[in-house]
Amino acid sequence: MRILSGIQPSGALHLGNYFGMMKPAIELQEKGEAFYFIANYHSMTSLFDAGERRQNTLEVALDFLACGLDPKKTVFFKQSDVPEVTELTWLLTTVTPMGLLERAHSYKDKISKGISPNHGLFAYPVLMAADILIYDSNLVPVGRDQKQHVEMTRDIAMKFNETYGQTFVIPEPQIREEVAVVPGVDGQKMSKSYGNTIEIFGDERAARKKIMGIVMDSRTPQEPKPDADKNLAIQLLKLVAPAKVAKDFEDRLCAGGLGYGDLKKALFEHYWNYFAAARTKRVELAANLDYVKQVLRDGTAKARAVAQQVLKRAKAASGLD
Ligand code: ADP
Ligand code: TRP
Repeated sequence: MRILSGIQPSGALHLGNYFGMMKPAIELQEKGEAFYFIANYHSMTSLFDAGERRQNTLEVALDFLACGLDPKKTVFFKQSDVPEVTELTWLLTTVTPMGLLERAHSYKDKISKGISPNHGLFAYPVLMAADILIYDSNLVPVGRDQKQHVEMTRDIAMKFNETYGQTFVIPEPQIREEVAVVPGVDGQKMSKSYGNTIEIFGDERAARKKIMGIVMDSRTPQEPKPDADKNLAIQLLKLVAPAKVAKDFEDRLCAGGLGYGDLKKALFEHYWNYFAAARTKRVELAANLDYVKQVLRDGTAKARAVAQQVLKRAKAASGLD
């Protein structure tokens, strides 16, 4: 089974990215042959600073390796090091109905925020389809916001297969329901674009300030809170503390007697400890960038070998041979 996912180099890794996508993806490396890449071509649709892209790309590589991606088990590479993916994108654009792209939620969201769209932003799902199809991927672990893109990939693949004969494997998205939408410090979906993130490898003081600043209601500590399971700090604590510990805090909040300040302090401590080992590993990796670059080079060679075969198959099927 081939597992594939990508992440854009668009800013600092946060709890939503980690629990929604990175952790499930890293766990899946034990279950099949995983291909994970840094989607630097995709980042060009919304980031226009070359230096920032270069720097973010390196940061994502460090994040993935520090969080447990094992290069012996997983093929890890930069999207643009496999340029065949852009050639396949062209083949796919010609079987992609305009209406399909016009219905894309993420495109419509961006337009409604007033972003003036470039053609790349509109064609974003077709490049993503090429990413997935060019490696004969079976399973695509992502957060819920990417589900529609994977469904569009399936539609595009089926259309190509119908038009030119069986060529592509039809992939399935994999979404972990319990972490499909990790909330941010304001209760909305945690996202870089909402400024409500808790970063994984950020500064300790800034993270403490963000967590202690989570707004709660004005009920006194003594009051019982039967809605404790909906409390934002409890929801986040469930991600970073052992189940028994989180349950204990939830019960105490529910019964009354636990103050919000103490709860947030506990959340900060558990969050900080949860990533302690990854933080140490990341510092070591950052001091050994030659190793990191070698990992990406080795990954590229393996990814490219597969991509070239699948592209050849698609070109032959469509009469480009
Ligand atoms: P952001 O919204 O911060 O820009 P990205 O769009 O770069 O995040 O998302 C990268 C990956 O992380 C995607 O697979 C996405 O589904 C997942 N992800 C992002 N935010 C969350 C969240 N709050 N909960 C669950 N998964 C998320
Ligand atoms: N669009 C994804 C995101 O923003 C990143 C991505 C690009 C991706 N290509 C992919 C994810 C292929 C899964 C499979 O998060």
